[in-house]
Amino acid sequence: MFQKRLKDAATAIQAQFDGVLGALDDLPVVHAMAHATNGGKRLRGFMVLESAHLHGVDPSAAIWPATGIEALHAYSLVHDDLPCMDDDDLRRGAPTVHVKWDEATAVLAGDALQTLAFELATHHNAGSGDVRADLAASLAKASGAQGMVLGQALDIAAETADAPLTLDEITALQRGKTGALIEWSATAGARMAQADIGPLQAYARALGLAFQIADDVLDVTSDAATMGKATGKDAEAGKATFVSLLGLDEAKRRADALVTEACDALSIYQAEADTLRDAARFVVTRKT
Ligand code: IPE
Ligand code: IPE
Ligand code: MG
Ligand code: MG
Ligand code: MG
Repeated sequence: MFQKRLKDAATAIQAQFDGVLGALDDLPVVHAMAHATNGGKRLRGFMVLESAHLHGVDPSAAIWPATGIEALHAYSLVHDDLPCMDDDDLRRGAPTVHVKWDEATAVLAGDALQTLAFELATHHNAGSGDVRADLAASLAKASGAQGMVLGQALDIAAETADAPLTLDEITALQRGKTGALIEWSATAGARMAQADIGPLQAYARALGLAFQIADDVLDVTSDAATMGKATGKDAEAGKATFVSLLGLDEAKRRADALVTEACDALSIYQAEADTLRDAARFVVTRKT
């Protein structure tokens, strides 16, 4: 059930990107945007669609913010991979944008994907004016200097910090760089229905941390052929991660505990939220 719904979400989101990007000018930056939005698990977009489904929101409305968050996420990856950031050549099994094109194209494709994210998330079919304004404001907050960009800045700063980060500092870093966009994704459906975002927010806060712990574990335990991106780079770059602080076993234990916490946070939805609970389990058992 979960795997099928994730696959269906990925197909719908890809079709949406094909339509939207296919209508733009035939330019290198547009090709780079298509390249950067191709593939991936689509977990964030899936969470938008699932949380919308949970609140009875029409999928033809939810597909817009679902595609929007995947555009925002793709932008974050294009910039994350730049030589001045993590300096990665491989993403989703393909060359990164600055390798396939050049750095200027990667910066600009990332910029354009960020603004496209807001265009899509606030599409007139996504809901009322109030709903769309709320989606835009919350996405801005999750993306910028209180959210993803804050986390990325802390991540880069930690590479050259004099002392290792504390557990609280790493938690704050991860809550920004990965947690904020996951939180927006999981709460989007409640926002669209103008319902209480509280339970989904609690779910996503636990899940977001578990997600980044799993990413950090996979960086140590997996390989590039499986992951479609370079591995073994965090320790080399001096990244502050749960794995660097706690070791592999304790980091995995913590991720498992966070999955339980995420599932429990959805109790008011009862069995209706089982697909989101499966998603939480998937986050720590995934191979890519
Ligand atoms: C990778 O995210 C970046 C992190 C926040 C760790 P994903 O693992 O969701 O990447 P894709 O979208 O599936 O490629
Ligand atoms: C990146 O975290 C998070 C964002 C892009 C916001 P990582 O640097 O750990 O992601 P990967 O491992 O390159 O996918
Ligand atoms: Mg990074
Ligand atoms: Mg990276
Ligand atoms: Mg990583």
